[in-house]
Amino acid sequence: MNNIELVNIAREMRERAYAPYSHFAVGAALLCSDGEVFTGCNVEGASYSNAICAERTALVKAVSCGKRSFAKLAVSGNGKKFCTPCGICRQMLYEFSPELIILCANEDGEYEEHSMKELLPYAFGPEMVTGENTGTVD
Ligand code: THU
Repeated sequence: MNNIELVNIAREMRERAYAPYSHFAVGAALLCSDGEVFTGCNVEGASYSNAICAERTALVKAVSCGKRSFAKLAVSGNGKKFCTPCGICRQMLYEFSPELIILCANEDGEYEEHSMKELLPYAFGPEMVTGENTGTVD
């Protein structure tokens, strides 16, 4: 699966977006380390805070199918600007794959590539709350 193929899957997924409130349709394609691809779109609700982003839709689909390791994510939004994942999505993707490559695309399929470290520097991750950390204050 090359970058252009992954970006094009994300672009196609924009057609599935349910975004009657923002009118901003987003599609995502998440490439697992084993080569499988999970897709997602944004889904909004009349109670606006219900919205879930395309990236997290793809991620929770993948995790609920037993996947825990991801290589690359493509995300595509409306317009000419490159669509970057929101802060919540960055944090949730970091949980599983701190080395993730993120392809931020526009509706035409042009994209720029970023590392997770670029998008979420000094991240707070699972290593901070496991191991020696027992959940008590000494
Ligand atoms: N959205 C995404 O799905 N992914 C992003 O990376 C940015 C924002 C969605 C959330 C909401 O449905 C709409 O775009 C406008 O914010």
